Amino acid sequence: MYVITGATSRTGSVVANYLIEKGQSVRVLGRNAERLTPFADKGADIFVAEPADQAALTEAFTGAKAVYVMLQPNYIATSNDFHVFQDRIMDAIMPALEKAKVKYVVSLSSWGADKPEGTGPVAGLYQLEQRLNRIAGLNVLHIRPGYFMENTLSQVDNILARNTAAGPFSPNIKFPFIATRDVGLAAGEALLKLDFQGKLSRELHGSQDITMVEVSAIIGKVIQHPDLTYVQDSKERTRRDLLGLNFSEHIIQLILEVADAMNAGHIQMLEPRSADNSTPTSYERFVYETLLPLYKQRASNT
Ligand SMILES: NC(=O)c1ccc[n+]([C@@H]2O[C@H](COP(=O)([O-])OP(=O)(O)OC[C@H]3O[C@@H](n4cnc5c(N)ncnc54)[C@H](OP(=O)(O)O)[C@@H]3O)[C@@H](O)[C@H]2O)c1
Repeated sequence: MYVITGATSRTGSVVANYLIEKGQSVRVLGRNAERLTPFADKGADIFVAEPADQAALTEAFTGAKAVYVMLQPNYIATSNDFHVFQDRIMDAIMPALEKAKVKYVVSLSSWGADKPEGTGPVAGLYQLEQRLNRIAGLNVLHIRPGYFMENTLSQVDNILARNTAAGPFSPNIKFPFIATRDVGLAAGEALLKLDFQGKLSRELHGSQDITMVEVSAIIGKVIQHPDLTYVQDSKERTRRDLLGLNFSEHIIQLILEVADAMNAGHIQMLEPRSADNSTPTSYERFVYETLLPLYKQRASNT
């Protein structure tokens, strides 16, 4: 049986569905049974657990052939320390994996997880890798994807409110954008094959490196707004906008830190792009399939 933590997440749901479609026995974990029902309808075992509940995780992992491990995000944090939240999840997962004697893990890490600090929320994924690597006898593959295309869905609101794409990123630096579907499929394939031994990481660069100016041009073409441009917001402007979206000061600091780290090249891929670390979904396809429907829906409501 495969156990999928964060099964309702964008990546975890793809992992779970992939393994179910391959005829595998799957247990899906999440905080809410109703949100897990679609997997139960396809034959999966649903298991309700808080991500930091060590006893529940131990029970859920017992008998697992392999586990998909992720750190759930909690950006609109009531607690004002995101890394403490990440630590609590890790403090539960590590002993649970050991007690359940799990032999294989695929973990959702990130580009930049090779750096211990200066990377915002990604520093927690450095810790995740290090702590999984310390578990004796565990075979673990850390998936290190680039920047999620889904992050650019926030451009819909920028375009509707300000008639421009905007954000804290430098306009002309290329980033490896990847669709979460491709991340989930790579993790699912790794779990199905289980052909890794020891402690390994695998970078996923997406289909191409593109700049925010190029991102805006693609969005503009697809939504038929050919003059769409990109504005790099000041930190103060980003801070103000995120406060308006109910993000805590602490999370905003981490978001600004990760943006600085990407702009400065502190977060970067370590390997050159290759056929092996590239994934199929282009940014244009993502915009047609995911951003455009959201844009149409929001535009019709304004
Ligand atoms: N954004 C990027 O560019 C990027 C790049 C590389 C790596 N990553 C990493 O990818 C991970 C996110 O993956 P994803 O996009 O697949 O996740 P996601 O879709 O954002 O995951 C959301 C899931 O987390 C759970 N969750 C949400 N808020 C929570 C809270 N306050 N407490 C506990 N659980 C909560 C929910 O599950 P239930 O409600 O069902 O429990 C929800 O389905 C993070 O670790 C992030 O650091 C992100």
